[in-house]
Amino acid sequence: MPKLVIWAWYNFIMAFSLGDIARQFRSAFKGKAEGSVLGIDIGASSAKIVQLRASRGTAVLETYGEIALGPYGAVAIGKAVKLPPEKIAEALIDLMREANVTAREGGLSIPFSASLVSVLDLPKVDEDALKRIIPIEARKYIPIPVSEVTLDWFVIPPDSDEKSAFDQVEEPSPLRAKGQEVLLVAIHNDVLKNYQTVATTAGLNINFYEIEIFSATRSSMGHGIAPVLVVDLGAATTKMYIVEKGVVRLTHLVTSGGQHMTETLARSLSWEFEKAERVKRERGLVESSAYGADENERIKEALLSTLTRVFSEIDRVLLSYGQRYNKNVSHVLLTGGGASLPGLAEHAKQSLHADIEIADPFARTEAPAFLLDVLKQIGPGFAVSVGLALRKLKQR
Ligand SMILES: Nc1ncnc2c1ncn2[C@@H]1O[C@H](COP(=O)(O)OP(=O)(O)OP(=O)(O)O)[C@@H](O)[C@H]1O
Ligand SMILES: [Mg+2]
Repeated sequence: MPKLVIWAWYNFIMAFSLGDIARQFRSAFKGKAEGSVLGIDIGASSAKIVQLRASRGTAVLETYGEIALGPYGAVAIGKAVKLPPEKIAEALIDLMREANVTAREGGLSIPFSASLVSVLDLPKVDEDALKRIIPIEARKYIPIPVSEVTLDWFVIPPDSDEKSAFDQVEEPSPLRAKGQEVLLVAIHNDVLKNYQTVATTAGLNINFYEIEIFSATRSSMGHGIAPVLVVDLGAATTKMYIVEKGVVRLTHLVTSGGQHMTETLARSLSWEFEKAERVKRERGLVESSAYGADENERIKEALLSTLTRVFSEIDRVLLSYGQRYNKNVSHVLLTGGGASLPGLAEHAKQSLHADIEIADPFARTEAPAFLLDVLKQIGPGFAVSVGLALRKLKQR
């Protein structure tokens, strides 16, 4: 069974926007499988894949693609859908064919919502002792039998003047003075088994599974030491996490995302979901002459109603982290497909009390110049898949 490892960085196909430009791209590369690696992100609404190859110290982008999962479960493109492993594998096979993927090895992401992450306070002992202690300690944090989960951990480098800051951790233990903090990750075995079925059915050789937040952090965050709030605007949910010195310090899940935005728009303008989804992606918050003044206003209002809720959650997280740890988080990194909403950065800059950055994971890769604009535009949705492929490249 491939090892589940966690990581901190310091150490009907998407036909959507790829189309012709992707075809040019593919013929420019004719990817070779040898030395090429994959990052595969199975999100709630779509699966993304990225194929990279190392060349002279850089990560060369060989191909990439996205496929909406909705149609495999008889729901609209852009909607979140729960599919059995066989259906997901079918979608991946279609995606790999369409995107001309030639590699078969790489990493696959696990949804944050399917994982349990906690910080343990342990005495300072060696690696072997940790292996014995952690499964015993884990029982205090995991509400199901430890035999039903796969565990992994990572020793957090010491930082004497800081308190442990994980949401779930209440009070620092007196052990801390001579102890160590260990970031513990648990994933239910059934969840892993499902992903293994997906991989086997799709003919993939998965070398590691990684919780999506660690992958996105690797591809999209700078190496500064100031805390950053990463906001992943997904389809059904928005995930927020504060990363400081490469360590995920606090997490927060909001049950609202891009799908809700489309639904509100559809309801408000009496459109089908499909039309609302298209208008959201094409027009977003930017006025367009294709609509009358009244319609423009109503579109903006509908999109903002979801965004306002998400932004107020962002403010709440920033405030509570600031108060609890006496630290100002002044940088917000927006990622996930929802971060491609036209006009989002400008609006966020006005509404939030922080610097705003839109994730640009492909900036860590080398790609033909004619693709740079499109990669920048669709980049936020690929943060997880690029991060997975980058990790696999580093391991070679
Ligand atoms: N250009 C765009 N403008 C606005 N929204 C967009 C754009 N492209 C994609 N989205 C929205 O992003 C959402 C999907 O984002 P993403 O692909 O990151 O989610 P996911 O990975 O499938 O879901 P999750 O991360 O919650 O599992 C959808 O709601 C989709 O409508
Ligand atoms: Mg996602």
